[in-house]
Amino acid sequence: MALLNILHFPDPRLRTVAKPVTEFDAELRKLVSDMFETMYEAPGIGLAATQVDRHIRLLVLDVSEGRNRPRCLINPEIIEADGDEEMDEGCLSVPGYYEKVRRAEHIRVRAQDENGQTSEFEAEGLEAVCIQHEMDHLEGKLFVDYLSNLKRNRIRSKLVKLQKQKAG
Ligand code: NI
Repeated sequence: MALLNILHFPDPRLRTVAKPVTEFDAELRKLVSDMFETMYEAPGIGLAATQVDRHIRLLVLDVSEGRNRPRCLINPEIIEADGDEEMDEGCLSVPGYYEKVRRAEHIRVRAQDENGQTSEFEAEGLEAVCIQHEMDHLEGKLFVDYLSNLKRNRIRSKLVKLQKQKAG
C-alpha cells in the first residue's frame, strides 16, 4: 500500500470530469486500497479518485465512528433523492475550511464494488452528504462552488498563499 498525494484547491486538475471504470483488475484494487490508506491517514471520511489525480469514477468512504466500515463505490449513481438538509462540510482538497452546504437528506445509490458487482442501498444523514460530496468531485465540482464568490475567492487566495509558503 502507499499514501497518495492529495490535490488542493484551486489545482485545475480537480476540475476534471472522471471517466467510467471499465476494467475491474488488480490495478484498480491496488488504487482502492491506496485510497483507503490515504483517507484514513489524512484523516478524512471520504476520498474521490479525482483528488488523487486519477480521473475515474471511484470513491471511498467510511463515516463510522470506529473507522471500521470501509465502503468503495465505483460508477456510482444516485437513483432517488429526497428531503434536504444543511451540514458543515470540509474537504481534504480544501484543508482547514468548513462551510454549510445544502444537500438531499436521503438518497438511493446504485454502484459497483471493486469486483464489478452491482448493488443498491439507501443512505441518509452524514453518509448521504458524504456520497453526494464525493460524487461532485467526479464531476470536477467542489463544495466551495456552493459558496458565494466572495467566500470562495477568499478561500482560494488563502490556500494559494499557503501553497506558496510551503513551496518557498
Ligand atoms: Ni472533498
